[in-house]
Amino acid sequence: MNKNFLLSEAPIIAKEIIKNSTSKIILFHGDMGVGKTTLIKEICKTLGTEDLISSPTFSIVNEYITSNDETIFHFDFYRIDNEEEVYNIGVEDYFDSNHWCLIEWPSVVENLLPLENVNVYLTSLEDGQRNIQIN
Ligand SMILES: Nc1ncnc2c1ncn2[C@@H]1O[C@H](COP(=O)(O)OP(=O)(O)O)[C@@H](O)[C@H]1O
Ligand SMILES: [Mg+2]
Repeated sequence: MNKNFLLSEAPIIAKEIIKNSTSKIILFHGDMGVGKTTLIKEICKTLGTEDLISSPTFSIVNEYITSNDETIFHFDFYRIDNEEEVYNIGVEDYFDSNHWCLIEWPSVVENLLPLENVNVYLTSLEDGQRNIQIN
């Protein structure tokens, strides 16, 4: 997928990501403010959670439960200084759990990431739209 979209279209994009995703581990790449958390919120809504979604600020991971009793783990590695910190929280168990893992700033923990994943690349366009590429 390679598309430009407006904020108002984020729910549609979120649905497409879920529908086309070949893995429950989705890596969100892109600069601060590009819309990673916004899309993750929409994905969580689509999967059926009423929880308030915000980036894990004081922890590395937030956990949400959907109305179908599915578990979603939401990671934000922005504030991580080294991979050991992440390894020490037992991140592999989360990745191996077969639950949804939606990950912001995955490049910070490159060596810990599972091989099977989907990459979402977001960039800002001059007119305020965002470009999304998935592979
Ligand atoms: N097309 C778009 N998709 C997502 N966010 C958008 C879009 N256009 C504007 N925005 C705005 O950009 C900001 C993205 O913030 P956020 O999702 O927290 O980014 P990140 O998690 O990548 O740092 C929000 O204020 C959102 O309203
Ligand atoms: Mg964010």
